[in-house]
Amino acid sequence: MDKPKHILLIIGGGIAAYKASELIRLIKKSGMTVRCVLTESGAQFVTPMTLAALSENEVHTTLWSLKNETEMGHIQLSREADLIVICPATANLLAKMAGGIADDLATTLLLATDAPVMAVPAMNVRMWQHAATQRNIKQLQNDGIMVMMPDEGDMACGEYGPGRMPEPEAVMTQISSLMSSAFSSTSEFAASELGANPLDGQPAFAPDQHRPLHGKHILVTAGPTREPIDPVRYIANRSSGRQGFAIAAAAAEAGAKVTLVAGPVHLATPVGVLRVDVETALEMEAAVEAALPANIAIMVAAVADWRADSRSEQKIKKKGDAPAPLQLTENPDILAGLARHAQRPDLLIGFAAETEKIAEHAKAKLAKKGCDWIVANDVSGDVMGGADNSVHIITAHGSEIWERLPKPEVARQLVQKIIEEIG
Ligand code: CTP
Repeated sequence: MDKPKHILLIIGGGIAAYKASELIRLIKKSGMTVRCVLTESGAQFVTPMTLAALSENEVHTTLWSLKNETEMGHIQLSREADLIVICPATANLLAKMAGGIADDLATTLLLATDAPVMAVPAMNVRMWQHAATQRNIKQLQNDGIMVMMPDEGDMACGEYGPGRMPEPEAVMTQISSLMSSAFSSTSEFAASELGANPLDGQPAFAPDQHRPLHGKHILVTAGPTREPIDPVRYIANRSSGRQGFAIAAAAAEAGAKVTLVAGPVHLATPVGVLRVDVETALEMEAAVEAALPANIAIMVAAVADWRADSRSEQKIKKKGDAPAPLQLTENPDILAGLARHAQRPDLLIGFAAETEKIAEHAKAKLAKKGCDWIVANDVSGDVMGGADNSVHIITAHGSEIWERLPKPEVARQLVQKIIEEIG
């Protein structure tokens, strides 16, 4: 039997802290274990005694407890969790997290963790709408933190608007959905590296079976490949992986099981996505093969067309005259190979990076590669590595153009088009 999932619940100081008790009860009822960390201001609203009784675990409140540090140090506390939930997350706590401040137990372990983190903000409407809070939320999403948007309604302070903590049942639905994902183990969620959260948006809250891509396996390739020349040099390209990661995130939000084969990029792994890191085109080809069968494949990676014939084991030294010419070999075309594969996905989508005659070249690529759709982008400007994208979608039935949109929006629209296609 699987080990029960373990939730580390950080309770910030706000009137909504009382709802944490109900959340603990729901987590326990679902068969998961929970351990609580209470901030100093959180302790103004709920007592450690209540939380300890409900969670049946010791409650941690300070960094400076000799007993805790010898028995369960803050690093271990942050590492043993399958998911860290901050509920309620106050404006202050969010600001400290966004700034990387670690001045108490909660913020220190948040900085030390490699577990996925979900924040459930709750605060007065004006605090929520303040530019600083909104900036911090964006930053946290970019850092790979999931943020569950607050509800709108009457607030304890007498005002009306967004800022209310969602009901514990809704938070629990989200926790269950994340933990029941086929890929919810801590290692597979992977630590957030520097970089953008590809969807800079919200996790889906609908239970899995109600999401439109539930039961589908979607394979996505993303990023560049890197083809070594010697131990220090390589052939690569400017792809940042942002578009592919955004598509993987959007597909996972829509309920799909997603395998993301990623070239070397500095991006956080989208929630619920199984990421397989590769470096070279040959490794990418093998990872794609290993991920089959898939219902849908979206090949966004900018695969290097060539690799060095042979990789020098030693760094190639300058000799004062012209260097020996690089001998190159063409890499396999992973997309075309998949189109001919016995386990060809039902819907196979290629991307095309073009600098001129976009639609014309993309149409030719659709035929040449044997895929069902081509998403072509004009990479003559700042698209490669940039935040926005303009695309031509070419299918057997025609084409459409999506003018300059943020990459997460292109991802959402593409996933929506896939949902409509597979009905
Ligand atoms: N692709 C692939 N394997 C390769 C090269 C490209 O799977 N060795 C895939 C890309 O992931 C993308 C599509 O093919 O989905 C088109 O990639 P692109 O670089 O635009 O086309 P190329 O085939 O490299 O053609 P060219 O460089 O001549 O434009």
